[in-house]
Amino acid sequence: MSQVTEYSEKVMDHFMNPRNVGEIEDAAGVGTVGNAKCGDIMRIYLDIDENHVIKDAKFKTFGCGAAVATSSMATELVIGKTVEEALKVTNKAVMEALDGLPAVKVHCSLLAEEAIHAALWDYAQKNNITIEGLKPPVTDIDETEEFYEMEEE
Ligand code: FES
Repeated sequence: MSQVTEYSEKVMDHFMNPRNVGEIEDAAGVGTVGNAKCGDIMRIYLDIDENHVIKDAKFKTFGCGAAVATSSMATELVIGKTVEEALKVTNKAVMEALDGLPAVKVHCSLLAEEAIHAALWDYAQKNNITIEGLKPPVTDIDETEEFYEMEEE
């Protein structure tokens, strides 16, 4: 993906008209992550059926425009997927679906990836199952190595 320096039309659209804002009562999985550096916080709720398929996803994000747009796109991308497939919705996949993010905003997309992972982890814990490849969630993405690697790109 080529470097972008400003918000794409898709980013603006998902920021101005975010999809799936809200919460799910008695959600199968809830994940909350933050970035201590900027103070932004994202929470994702997942409704998952007995076949491990994500029927619905909602989010609440207290953060920058890119964080809102990536949470909106991330929820769109995971709805209809199995929990294993949802694990493959990386921040890169979210960025690609949004036609890119400016380099200084790439870390915002990590919040979306981590919030989904945290919600999947919560679901796995509650149901006593293992999701192949899922690691314990971080609560502050600022602590992740990946965060620093991406900052340096
Ligand atoms: Fe904090 Fe974007 S600046 S998530």
